[in-house]
Amino acid sequence: MSKIKIEGGHKLTGKIEISGAKNSAVALVPAAILCDEEVTISNVPNISDIDSLEEILNYLNAKITRRDGVLTIDSSNIVNKEIPEEMSQKLRASYYFMSSLLGKYKHVEMYFPGGCTIGERPIDQTLKAYRALGAVVIEEGNRYIVEAEELKGAKIYLDMPSVGATINTMLAAVKAKGKTVIENVAKEPEIVNVATFLNNMGAKIKGAGTNVITITGVDYLHKSFHEVIPDRIEAGTYVIIGALLGENLTIKNLIPSHIESLTSKLIEAGVEMNISEDSITIEKRGKYKAVSIKTLPYPGFPTDLQQPLIPFLTQCHGISTVEETIWENRFQNVYDTNRMGANIIVKDNRIAKIKGVTKLTGKNVTATDLRGGASMLICGLIADGITTIDNIKYILRGYDNICGKLSKVGAKIELI
Ligand code: EPU
Repeated sequence: MSKIKIEGGHKLTGKIEISGAKNSAVALVPAAILCDEEVTISNVPNISDIDSLEEILNYLNAKITRRDGVLTIDSSNIVNKEIPEEMSQKLRASYYFMSSLLGKYKHVEMYFPGGCTIGERPIDQTLKAYRALGAVVIEEGNRYIVEAEELKGAKIYLDMPSVGATINTMLAAVKAKGKTVIENVAKEPEIVNVATFLNNMGAKIKGAGTNVITITGVDYLHKSFHEVIPDRIEAGTYVIIGALLGENLTIKNLIPSHIESLTSKLIEAGVEMNISEDSITIEKRGKYKAVSIKTLPYPGFPTDLQQPLIPFLTQCHGISTVEETIWENRFQNVYDTNRMGANIIVKDNRIAKIKGVTKLTGKNVTATDLRGGASMLICGLIADGITTIDNIKYILRGYDNICGKLSKVGAKIELI
């Protein structure tokens, strides 16, 4: 199996271009099958999660083309059949197909979705929404049969602002009869991106990006063109790398307001950056001081950036704190980070205390999950000597051409 090998300590200069957002694209692709004509999605990242969704589209008999980040999907001849367990379990976003198929055919059979093992990841809020819309949900172990004579608009209150449940409910309700009101929804930019995509096809969704989304059901969704927004987590990862190793490093094609919770923390730590309309130029200068973060739903500090921030915190003077409030198992990267020389103590899998500054030394390490893998990669970039990362399939699920992008600006990193 391939690995990533990094020789640490090299300064990075030049430009890194951000790709389309993974967590947006992985919802847009399953959303596309709700369309009654052909859709085109551009700026699709070249990551293995999209390959896995493409495999499901092929299995369902959709007609697809994918070239240079442009995906066309024609679902006019798709077959509503059970997606095999091994396909569902490759990624979390497979369950968006469950909602699109339910919304389109009022019947779906599917297995529990996969995804990184960063917590229990229940789907109770999605099932609650299906039931509220009038569907009967039969749970047979990890397999679900969901059926409705008719899906009818309803009022749904989510127990927590779940990204997945918000998107699933939109997908299931977009063709339901009447009006659906979803309260306490997630406000992530990816939610807005999915709602805009559906509205471009003729859906009637209002309020995406606020606490309440209102959907008036429509019968038909027509041909449309849509662009994936820039990946704020990929952008944030490179901004962190820039704060550690940048020498006039510019991160391009991002939306700075989407990562303000990160940039404001970096500035608090003493990082200097130049933020323009769609890029950030950053340079490692002087000393940084410890800061504390707490992960929260958007617009709070994203859980997906707390692991990539940890290598940065090992280089800050004093004790930094990271409090994880979304996932129960998101400090798996700490074990190897400490092996490389960090001084991190994790309490109850919820709070990490990072004492800096510590020198990191290259080691053979493992990517335990996607963002944990990115975290190890950043450790490798700043460490003395050679770091080799195993299990890199996790990293390739979510970071488009990460080795190529970093090599281009001066990193010594390769896939071996
Ligand atoms: N939750 C429930 N019940 C539900 C749904 C969620 O209890 O029915 C809980 C979860 O256990 C978790 C919290 O609510 O504690 C938030 O979960 P959410 O549903 O928002 O997460 P998700 O949709 O499964 C997406 C991203 C994750 C990201 C989270 C939070 C995708 C494909 N995944 O997951 O991204 O961490 O939102 O922002 O969009 C990643 O990219 O590395 C990643 C894990």
